[in-house]
Amino acid sequence: MFIRHLVDFNDLSLAEWDILFDTARDIMENPSKYMKSCEGRIMATLFFEPSTRTMFSFQSAMLRLGGQIIGFSEPKNSSVSKGEVLKDTIKVISGYADIITIRHPLEGAAFAAAQECKDTALINAGDGGHLHPTQTLTDLTTIRMEKGRTDDLTIGMCGDLINGRTVHSLIKAMSHFKNIKFYFISPANLKVPQRLLSMLAHKGYKYTETENLEEAIPHLDILYMTRIQRERFTSEEEYNRSKGVYVLNREKLASAKPDMLVMHPLPRVDEISHDVDDDERAVYFKQARYGMYIRMALIYHMLNSPTENVPLPKLTDTDAHCDNPRCITNHEHYLKPMFARVKSHPDIRYCVYCEKQYKN
Ligand code: CP
Repeated sequence: MFIRHLVDFNDLSLAEWDILFDTARDIMENPSKYMKSCEGRIMATLFFEPSTRTMFSFQSAMLRLGGQIIGFSEPKNSSVSKGEVLKDTIKVISGYADIITIRHPLEGAAFAAAQECKDTALINAGDGGHLHPTQTLTDLTTIRMEKGRTDDLTIGMCGDLINGRTVHSLIKAMSHFKNIKFYFISPANLKVPQRLLSMLAHKGYKYTETENLEEAIPHLDILYMTRIQRERFTSEEEYNRSKGVYVLNREKLASAKPDMLVMHPLPRVDEISHDVDDDERAVYFKQARYGMYIRMALIYHMLNSPTENVPLPKLTDTDAHCDNPRCITNHEHYLKPMFARVKSHPDIRYCVYCEKQYKN
């Protein structure tokens, strides 16, 4: 059995993650074995937001598995530009394709879309500043390939930690492994959301929040750099205040451990200087390539193993609406707001779409 949809990395069990990793490694070693494994199947890539790595790696993954692709990289080329709602687009495309990947600027969009896919698999390729589970699969594959383990690591995440969906997904994922320590390096206005810090504290993980990259570097096994996400700021002025605060260069790297990995989901803007690219600790271009192999493994299993739906959490009876302006429920008005309670803190409820938390 494999999951039907991948909306959140946590939808995968650790056993499923192990299977994916083993399959990705087998694909790297024996690509010809998989060349026809998705023959006759169609993937739709619905990108409502720009992408280079995620869209092209999904497309090349499907083509390398013998399948075919349809889709758009610009919603203005679809009937979305005529006002079609997400639900109708997904219902129609799910009748054409066997698997859908969706990237959307609104938080919870992939979850909303998955509710319309009864027989078609759906993968979240990034929903606003919320989650990006296949980037997490890419990141974990890079860590396993380059470090040989996912336990016993000190990982520093640096940059825009409030808007960085890759960071949010990776924090959740690393909290499944043993003896992980976190350094969160960001300006005060771009810190990791409180819900993720509470989750780490509840599970007994140690974390340090700091604004100082240089002080953190010597402690790290992995430095995960991220860009300041211009598109998530409400004003250019606010973005200008935060851009360019962190720049990793050769000089700063001199104090790092000799085997520290420098990772980045890419695209980079100015947060890693180009003179770092030739350092053997810089693995971000390898990371992008691992992304294609792990996505091949994901597509292969989602299409070739019997699938099951991820169950909804137990819903709380309330008439409340989510007040997150970037939550999909505030844009697609047919959606019924849904809330559930945080298992470890029953006094806190959260929006099932975007995970914004509310007291009581
Ligand atoms: N890492 C990542 O999601 O890159 P793209 O935005 O280019 O897909």
